[in-house]
Amino acid sequence: MALFQTVYGYFDRDNREYVITRPDTPQPWINVISNGDYGMILSQAGSGYSWRTHASLNRITRWEQDLIRDAWGKYLYLRDVQTGEFWSPSWQPCGSDLDAYRVRHGLGYSVIESARGTIESQVTYFVPLQHPCEIWLLRLCNRDAKPRQIQVFSYFEWLLGVAPDWHREFRNLFIDTRYNALQNTLLATNVLWDIPGEDGPHWNRAWPYVAFHSASRPAVGFESDKRVFFGRHGDLAHPRALRQGCSLGTQGRWGDAIGSLQISLELPPDEAVEVSFILGAADSEDQALTLAEYYKDIPAAREDLANIQHFWNNLNNGLVVETPDPAVNLLANGWLSYQAISGRLWGRSAYYQMGGAYGFRDQLQDSLVWLLVGHPEHTLEQIRLHAAHQYSDGIVLHWWHPLAEEGLRSEYSDDLLWLPFVVMHYIYETGNVACLEEMIPFFDGGSAPLYEHCRRAFDVALGRRSPRGLPLILKGDWNDGLNAVGAGGKGESIWMAHFLYHLLTRWSELPALDEEIRLHFRTEANALCAVTNAYGWDGAWYWRATTDKGKFIGSAQNDEGQIFLNAQTWAVLSGLATPERADQAMQAVRQRLYSPYGPLLLAPAYTRPDPEIGYLTRYAPGLRENGGVYVHAACWAVLAERKTHGVQAAYDLWRSFCPPVRGLEPEAYMAEPYVMPGNVDGPASDLAGRGGWTWYTGSAAWYLCALIEGVLGVEATLDGLRVQAALPDGWDGYHIQRSFRCVTYDIYVRRAASGERTGCTVDDQPWQGEILPILEPGTEHHVKYICR
Ligand code: GLC
Repeated sequence: MALFQTVYGYFDRDNREYVITRPDTPQPWINVISNGDYGMILSQAGSGYSWRTHASLNRITRWEQDLIRDAWGKYLYLRDVQTGEFWSPSWQPCGSDLDAYRVRHGLGYSVIESARGTIESQVTYFVPLQHPCEIWLLRLCNRDAKPRQIQVFSYFEWLLGVAPDWHREFRNLFIDTRYNALQNTLLATNVLWDIPGEDGPHWNRAWPYVAFHSASRPAVGFESDKRVFFGRHGDLAHPRALRQGCSLGTQGRWGDAIGSLQISLELPPDEAVEVSFILGAADSEDQALTLAEYYKDIPAAREDLANIQHFWNNLNNGLVVETPDPAVNLLANGWLSYQAISGRLWGRSAYYQMGGAYGFRDQLQDSLVWLLVGHPEHTLEQIRLHAAHQYSDGIVLHWWHPLAEEGLRSEYSDDLLWLPFVVMHYIYETGNVACLEEMIPFFDGGSAPLYEHCRRAFDVALGRRSPRGLPLILKGDWNDGLNAVGAGGKGESIWMAHFLYHLLTRWSELPALDEEIRLHFRTEANALCAVTNAYGWDGAWYWRATTDKGKFIGSAQNDEGQIFLNAQTWAVLSGLATPERADQAMQAVRQRLYSPYGPLLLAPAYTRPDPEIGYLTRYAPGLRENGGVYVHAACWAVLAERKTHGVQAAYDLWRSFCPPVRGLEPEAYMAEPYVMPGNVDGPASDLAGRGGWTWYTGSAAWYLCALIEGVLGVEATLDGLRVQAALPDGWDGYHIQRSFRCVTYDIYVRRAASGERTGCTVDDQPWQGEILPILEPGTEHHVKYICR
């Protein structure tokens, strides 16, 4: 069934695909496909790049961040032997006059379908779940009455190391390419990997992988030198190899390293042929050749594709959502968790940010998505990974590079607190308090129980306070761009006060904490609450921060940046604000920050760089954190609305920045309608309402959370799964299947008929209260709510 159709495409609900029906989308509309190690990106034009483990330190193929031309990629060309005509089955590099074109982005794969005259092509791209490689399955069909001879050429540029390789003439000196004729495979190695880090010599070690490219049919030619493939002054749209229809068989260490295989196909009338192309980066030549061999078997490749589809379908079975709103259903039953997992946790790369590193707070928050889809064990793995990137003094790495194991010791005030935040949610979800005893190493040596890691984070945070007891902001808090506010060690953060209060109060309730700590946390929380309410209230909302010089940020006294969203929403979420102040703060947010396309992070936007605040003020007004809708934070506003104004307010706000809905005006919104953007331009931008920074954003996991908790009212608590059943206007009911502590709760909420009594039943037995009973693991239960 086609949903949310525009001139550019639609959601195919039944196949969980987004179908792009024309290639000239307002921005690249991509898919980020990853198995947690190997990854690739494919845009609707057929462009993109590939990497292993780290998209910037270990890139396999070259790509340039030029979203306008979007003209770097790994491409196929087709050439008619009789006429010499050639084209690409994707829009780039020379498919702009194809007779038909369609891209289907799915969960874990993408398909590009096109036609040129009577030759139809279909290329299916995917990354097998278990192997460091990608497959392109090309299917060509001849609709002609006569046989056709088609040559197929593949083409991409090897990078094999740290991206971008702007000093290409230097890099070329170390790459070696070789064609293994027996196995029909191109191999490429690199003897210089300039990865940073202390583990091994810098600028004096080899890239430890073997890159390979192969095809299921014997190649009749190959090329490893760009000059020969293109011809001097040639280009991607008219390469020499295609003009002449032949490869010259270059290999060795003397060229500009590319990979290209040439295949010849005979296409009888009305018949189809299939060829698989394989590209990867193996640990050894043996593994490279084994994988190349394995994926020459097309049924085996197809089986892997089926496994991928099965994997994502199964993953989403942990959470099933059926509501009257198709946007909710599309996002909740696949796209949001896929974006969070494939894009943010595994791939960690996208067109707007090549990435590859782990952000301490970023991927920890992303890992909350595993709780919602019924795989809390992966949240625990993420917790272990991040705890191991904490120093023994409690301070953490703001970000770090896997492979190099190198990072930035954090001077942001909040980073370290996200560890206890996520641990707490993991415990709510699983009840597994024993995790606190698990021994985890510190980044600088030694190890301690997870509890101790969290405790040290709290100790550091509690120790960093101003003379009047408010948390210091240091070189920023959640808002990275406030990086100058407290660089001198004096500036304060009100959002940090809310966040710390939130954690102290909730941690003090966790079982397995000794009485002394519990008391300590409660005392500190009360003190924090008192000083924040004494000093942090600006009159009609909470101010956001003070600078080292004592100037306010987010106060009515300011001309710009008068009110910040987080300092209000977290006052509500943490419970630090009194009900009156919570209400007043949210009224201020509604009046000053809500826009038709979502709540702004602050207003008015800064129009002049303020060196005492930081780079947030250097963004153009209305962009990103400078007065745009910063979607990550917008999700917290949905949760705060639910608390203060109930389900209707939460749902209306959630929908105001919902991509399928916003995407109905693609010329204004521009971004992909099937994934979350990091930001939407605010009113101060000439392009107000434009979505940007898609895929690589913490908003995917939080948007799902805002939906499940904020709109559908289902939330994990220490005592059990809490359901606050309520319906927005126009909904007569909804169904959510949520797995919690190994029990499947099949929850049906519906509106009472006139005169019908409201209430709840569990397996047809009356049940009182919002918290559902904790039941036998492995069982499934039917929960019914009837509400007004
Ligand atoms: C970026 C950072 C994230 C930060 C956010 C807000 O998305 O990756 O860690 O919280 O910006 O500044």
